[in-house]
Amino acid sequence: MLSVKNLYKSFNIGTEFENNIFEGLNLELSDNTATAIIGSNGCGKSTLLNLIAGTLETDSGSISIDGEDISRLREEKRSNYFGRVYQDPFKGVASSLTILENMAIADKKNERIGLRWLVKKDRIEYYKTLLETLDLGLENHINTKVSLLSGGQRQSLSLLMATMKYPKVLLLDEHTAALDPKTSNVVMDKTADLIRSNGMTTLMITHNMEDAVNYSDRIIMLDEGEIVLDEKSSKLTAEDLNQIYREKMSRFNIAI
Ligand SMILES: Nc1ncnc2c1ncn2[C@@H]1O[C@H](COP(=O)(O)OP(=O)(O)OP(=O)(O)O)[C@@H](O)[C@H]1O
Ligand SMILES: [Mg+2]
Repeated sequence: MLSVKNLYKSFNIGTEFENNIFEGLNLELSDNTATAIIGSNGCGKSTLLNLIAGTLETDSGSISIDGEDISRLREEKRSNYFGRVYQDPFKGVASSLTILENMAIADKKNERIGLRWLVKKDRIEYYKTLLETLDLGLENHINTKVSLLSGGQRQSLSLLMATMKYPKVLLLDEHTAALDPKTSNVVMDKTADLIRSNGMTTLMITHNMEDAVNYSDRIIMLDEGEIVLDEKSSKLTAEDLNQIYREKMSRFNIAI
């Protein structure tokens, strides 16, 4: 279980730009559940993921996995627990390297940098088997540079790399937002397959209400760093969610 307790985070403390994002946030994610996080721009969704992953330091509060407090672990150490896919299709992969080299890097996550460059020959067939599951034919192009792949192919590869070492928690930050609707659906389906087969706890930020309902077990709506809705996805339709969103966000007069 991933547990966030009494989390505080502010930016630019003591300046005119002080921004108090979280003031005592509590959140528990049960094992093997997929939770979608929705909420308007700037409400703190990415900040939450960054705090959980250790990209940002918390001001106070604790973040623990299965009872072990990881709040003080550096991002690199914490990454043993996490797989991450970003909105930017360039961020989760090394574009100047080949598909094979990218797979090898993901395979050697958390090993010393020098060793990460070695592609072990006896792993190549395994990488190909994993790539086959994407159904994109990438297994036949393992020596192709990732810079030549489309956004959808990159995000699919990114997903595979993020989940290769069976992380305890998968963190997805609008990972299909930069893709066209059809490709986005393909990548979401692959995400669901990977989550199912690897049995990961997943935290997925999205602005797409249909995706939130269709691809999660639980939906959390954040507003100004507070949870304003926490509900089983099976109890909601995308229309419900849009309606609730409009009600909760009405004071900002945001049209969606
Ligand atoms: N490193 C940082 N330094 C200062 N302010 C930051 C930093 N990171 C985020 N913020 C601010 O914190 C607030 C929340 O940002 P965050 O990126 O978490 O929003 P979000 O909910 O992910 O929005 P979006 O839907 O646009 O991605 C914003 O006002 C943002 O400007
Ligand atoms: Mg964000």
